[in-house]
Amino acid sequence: MLPEAERARWLQRVEARLETALPRSTLAPTRLHAAMRHAVLGGGKRLRPLLVYAAGTAAGADETLLDAPAAAVELIHAFSLVHDDLPAMDDDDLRRGQPTVHVAFDEATAILAGDALQSLAFELLAAAPGDASLRVAWLATLAQATGAAGMCGGQALDMDATGQRLQPAALQQLHALKTGALIRASVRMGALAGGAAPAVIAALDEYASALGLAFQIRDDLLDIEGDSAQLGKTAGKDQAQEKSTYPSLLGMDGARTELARQAQRMTDALAGLPGADALRTLGLFAAQRSH
Ligand code: IPE
Ligand code: IPE
Ligand code: MG
Ligand code: MG
Ligand code: MG
Repeated sequence: MLPEAERARWLQRVEARLETALPRSTLAPTRLHAAMRHAVLGGGKRLRPLLVYAAGTAAGADETLLDAPAAAVELIHAFSLVHDDLPAMDDDDLRRGQPTVHVAFDEATAILAGDALQSLAFELLAAAPGDASLRVAWLATLAQATGAAGMCGGQALDMDATGQRLQPAALQQLHALKTGALIRASVRMGALAGGAAPAVIAALDEYASALGLAFQIRDDLLDIEGDSAQLGKTAGKDQAQEKSTYPSLLGMDGARTELARQAQRMTDALAGLPGADALRTLGLFAAQRSH
């Protein structure tokens, strides 16, 4: 179990870190700063920061050391959403129950806000408390997970796969990169902060890989089963845009079976790992969530 008090404390910690890291919207360039704040504050499940805290504390790290990587990965995630929603990509006008950044502001501002959120994430890690070697390891982990070998690469595969019918292995690779990479980086940054042994890092990585896939399969199912008010984003877009998803490839039942397989992988990976209760709870949430 992840006790509610612990979850609330972690959420509060990351909100506070994000709030102070983001530039004031009264400072010039005000439109850019306001757009960055719009993208990050006031919504979102904050799953990736929660994973940093859960993995970090399981590995024995002090919470104060985890604020920077927790906030940094959320900044990268927010950047990925701003760009994902652009007309050139998924062309969405609703995100976290609010107008997307390019709708609330304009397209150029949305592109720049995404760019600036990305560099802010790395700036925050570079200036974080912790040994220089730990900070370099965090920077390398997050940079790799964000770039062409991670989220951006996955987004490129997603765009290429639109209107195509992929083989299951190719779809798994697409999901592992576009969504899985940042989720794995979250868990890894926490584990690194706790100085986890290589075998523990490997078990946590197996858990995070399964969680990343489960999370995106659930996202794809919710796009079909959910409604826009509940999701805070427009439902039914994947089919309308002929996206390659698990339901489009395997059908709803096939996607649910694959989701259950990934949930089992998470459980197996955590077996025998002490202090993994919060990770277990977050894994269940990823697989069963309704928003
Ligand atoms: C949405 O992520 C994009 C995906 C990778 C599926 P989340 O579902 O974590 O979005 P927020 O942060 O809660 O808004
Ligand atoms: C996006 O996947 C993954 C990202 C890297 C942002 P989706 O395109 O399915 O995410 P939603 O459904 O718009 O949140
Ligand atoms: Mg997309
Ligand atoms: Mg999208
Ligand atoms: Mg989606």
